[in-house]
Amino acid sequence: MPNGEQARCPVQADFDPLSPAFLADPFAVLYALPRETPVFYAPSIDYYVVTRYADIEAVFLDHETYSAAPAQLPLVQLVPEAAQILSAGGHKPQPSMVSLDPPAHTRLRSPTARAFTPRRVGEMEPRIRATVDQLLDAVDPFAPFDLVSTLTFPLPATIIFSFVGIPERDWPQLKEWCGHRATLAWGRPTPEEQVHHAESMAAYRGYLREFVTAKAHARDDDFASALLAIHDEDPEALTHQEIASILYSLTFAGHETTNYLIGNVVRRLLEDPARWDAVAADPELISGAVHETLRYDPSVPVWRRVTKRPVTLGGVDLPEGAKLFLWLAASGRDASVFPEPETFDLRRANATKTLAFGKGIHYCLGAALGKLEAEIALEGLTRRFPGLRLVEGRELSFHPNISFRGPEALWVQYRTR
Ligand code: HEM
Repeated sequence: MPNGEQARCPVQADFDPLSPAFLADPFAVLYALPRETPVFYAPSIDYYVVTRYADIEAVFLDHETYSAAPAQLPLVQLVPEAAQILSAGGHKPQPSMVSLDPPAHTRLRSPTARAFTPRRVGEMEPRIRATVDQLLDAVDPFAPFDLVSTLTFPLPATIIFSFVGIPERDWPQLKEWCGHRATLAWGRPTPEEQVHHAESMAAYRGYLREFVTAKAHARDDDFASALLAIHDEDPEALTHQEIASILYSLTFAGHETTNYLIGNVVRRLLEDPARWDAVAADPELISGAVHETLRYDPSVPVWRRVTKRPVTLGGVDLPEGAKLFLWLAASGRDASVFPEPETFDLRRANATKTLAFGKGIHYCLGAALGKLEAEIALEGLTRRFPGLRLVEGRELSFHPNISFRGPEALWVQYRTR
C-alpha cells in the first residue's frame, strides 16, 4: 500500500481473521474495534476491512468501481509449485462467474439463470424432504448425536450434486475436492498443503470437463443437461468449457454455504432453548429463524472486491487496486439498519434485508435453494425432536478460512434412556 494512503486510513495491526481468537468469536473482535473506523487497513491480510451496511451495499451495487476479481483468489501468495499445478490444470485466477466482471460475468450468469429456473428449484423440494427424512431416520433419539455429520454436511451435497446431475458414485470425491478448494482460496495453507490442494483443484477441474463431454451424449432432466440444451441453440454463446466453469461454481457454492447455514440456525436456536421451543411450537417461525440467522451469524461472513479506481469509501480515500474485505457479518450487526442488533429476534421485521447473499449483479443464484434446504431441515428437526438440547461442555470449532463459517460439529441430545 502506498505510504500516502496509509496515513489517511486507520490501521488495525492486530486484526487477523485467521487468528484462533477471531475464529472462535469474530463478534468479540468486531465489538472491540473503535466505532469511528468503519473502514480500516489490516496488514495481516493486506486488505481494507469494510464493516458498515451502507458501505458494503454501495460496493456491491457499483461494479464499475469495484471489481469482483479477488472473490476466489488465494488469500496467501501461493508458492510457485502450487501456482504452476493450478495453471497447468487450466485453473485461472478468476475461475468462475463470481469473480468475473461484465461482460464475461454476464456470459456465464445469463445461461445459468435460464437453466436454474424456479421450477427446477421447486422440483427439488420432495427430494430435500426425502433426504432429510432418510438422514434423520438413522438417528438414535436416545443417544447424543453430531448434527453436522448426521444432517447438515450430507444434505446440501446430496441436493446440489443430484440437481446438477453428477453420478452418485462420484459424490464423495467431489466433496473432498470442495474441502480443498475452501482452504486454498480462503485459508492460510502451508506450502506443502498448497501443493496438495492445487493438485486436487486441477483434478476437480479435469473431472468437470470430462463430465460435460460425457453428459453431452447422455442427457437427462438435470441442470447440466439444461445448460447443454442452451449450448445446442448457439454453441458459440455457451461453450462446453464455460459449462464446466458454471458447474465449478455450483458444485461448490451449494455446499459449505448451506451446511454452515443449517448448523448456525440450529446452534443459535439451541443456545437459548426457549427459541427452539418457540419454533417447535409454531412452524410459522421457521422462515424467520433462517433469515434472522443469516443476519445474526451468516454462513458466508466475508466476501471480497478490489477498487478499479481511486475512490472514497466510509470517509477513507482508497487507491486503485485496494483489496476490500467486505465483512457481511458485521453489516448484520449495524444498528442503523437492524435495531438492537445483538438481540436474536425470531420476528424481526426486516431480517430479509441482510446482505448475506450479496446484492446487485452477483446476488446469490442459489439463495432460494439454500433457504429451502434450511427451512425443510429445521422443519424436520423441530417436528421429530421438539425438546432438542445442546450437549453441554462441547466447545465449537470452526474451519480456518475467512468466508465460510459454521460449527464443524454440533452435538445435540433429544432423550436420555
Ligand atoms: C444458503 C447459503 C448461501 C449463502 C449465505 C450464499 C452466499 C453467497 C454470496 C455472499 C455470494 C456473492 C454475492 C456477490 O458477490 O454479490 C453468492 C454468490 C453465488 N452463490 Fe450463493 N450462497 C448460498 C447458497 C448457495 C447455493 C445453494 C447455491 C447454488 C445452488 C449458490 C450459488 C451461488 C452462485 C452461482 C453465486 C455467484 C453468482 C454470480 O456471480 O453472479 N449459493 N452466494
